[in-house]
Amino acid sequence: MARRIVELLRTGQPDESVTIQGWVRTKREQKGFSFIEVNDGSSMAGLQVVINQTVPGYEEAIKRLSTGASVEVSGVLVPSLGKGQRIEVKADSVAVFGEADPETYPLQKKRHSFEFLREIGHLRSRTNTLGAVFRVRNACATAIHQFFQDQGFLWVHTPVLTASDCEGAGEMFAVTSLNLKQVPMTAQKEVDYSKDFFGKPTYLTVSGQLEAEIMAMAFSNVYTFGPTFRAENSNTSRHLAEFWMVEPEMAFCDLEGDMDLAEAFLKHIFKQVMATCPEDMEFFNARIDNSVLATAENIINTEFERLTYTDAIAQLQNAGKTFEYPVEWGLDLQSEHERYLAEELFKKPTIVTDYPTEIKAFYMRLSDDEQTVRAMDILVPKIGEIIGGSQREERLDVLERRIRQQGLDPADYWWYLDLRRYGTVPHAGFGLGFERLVQFMTGMGNIRDVIPFPRAPLSVEF
Ligand code: 4AD
Ligand code: MG
Repeated sequence: MARRIVELLRTGQPDESVTIQGWVRTKREQKGFSFIEVNDGSSMAGLQVVINQTVPGYEEAIKRLSTGASVEVSGVLVPSLGKGQRIEVKADSVAVFGEADPETYPLQKKRHSFEFLREIGHLRSRTNTLGAVFRVRNACATAIHQFFQDQGFLWVHTPVLTASDCEGAGEMFAVTSLNLKQVPMTAQKEVDYSKDFFGKPTYLTVSGQLEAEIMAMAFSNVYTFGPTFRAENSNTSRHLAEFWMVEPEMAFCDLEGDMDLAEAFLKHIFKQVMATCPEDMEFFNARIDNSVLATAENIINTEFERLTYTDAIAQLQNAGKTFEYPVEWGLDLQSEHERYLAEELFKKPTIVTDYPTEIKAFYMRLSDDEQTVRAMDILVPKIGEIIGGSQREERLDVLERRIRQQGLDPADYWWYLDLRRYGTVPHAGFGLGFERLVQFMTGMGNIRDVIPFPRAPLSVEF
């Protein structure tokens, strides 16, 4: 049975017989023997293999082994004389599965730009950086489930197809029920896709929150973790058309409880990833952004800043600098404003609360003055908004009024209003943009490089 390279690097002992499988990163031919470095994706470092010319089929194997070729090696572990590695494999047998023609294989031993790598999305996961990103992404997902499971939250699966626009922003992708069985493949691009889903307008979900609220009214504490979709045509380094969101929803909880949970949650994820992926995090710090480790430290050990939107506006007006977008009570914060607060002023995650009613969604709880709602956004350096959440409106009459005010039809939300009719409680939740988290943690400049298959305007290749 083949062993994972990460385990061998950590605990492998000289004289152990091992088999490894993976892809060749580098090959160095010497007189009478060759070195190859084999990587199986389990860690940044590969395992060095020394192949002596006495190994059966040596000449042929060495000819076929080049960067990118797939290989299985059996042999024994021996102490390594090479720098930076404790052990290596002395090969007894080498089997080449597939060659990678050096004339055409695009990933050669040099640094490629991320723009170039996006053009070869099917191969880029084999690079050091994208490998580290996807291992950290996995570690974040694991830490998220662990955090909620440890506290008794139920993971609920909310639908991708929906009839309601949770955010009321109209940024939905419409779904068609067109049956393409009768249409030849070659003609499928010409078809009229405007027909809706079996006669009822249906969309890809922008958020699982409304359904999570349903489940929280039965299980108290729940969370969702799944893909969400936004038909916003923003070609920025922080927006995707398809992204993953984590949305906890807690019954018997107010905005303070919501903020406390969000802060503990982010701290837990960073702590966990630092413990499970130290090499990858050090790599990001050395090669991508030299503030990555300091940022992790800052998240884990510093209390987040908390201030109201009204105070944030005052801070921005007194910043002594001009922003591209106007700063005025009642206008939404732009990412330059968010970054000023978190990056320059407070230099740590900053929670802004109590936004103007006018600029927020219908479900947020109205404050007594009716000018603001009990909303909170968590802003972080370099990214801006990473979490958006609120206490929800639990009063039937107020919610009905807010739905009408926003030009929506209460009849479409009868089931949501029922939750306020039967056993309503104060409740709250938030949504974490999963890719923004991974981007923030790794220091990667573009959100398209932290999701294996980015979907943004004009980027859907396969
Ligand atoms: O602030 P948003 O729109 O909030 C909601 O959807 C609420 N229903 C969440 C809740 O209370 N349960 O989105 C939440 C987060 C944002 O803070 C941001 O991190 C991320 O989702 N996000 C995006 N990430 C990538 N690409 C996009 N186009 C995003 N839009 C939002
Ligand atoms: Mg938001």
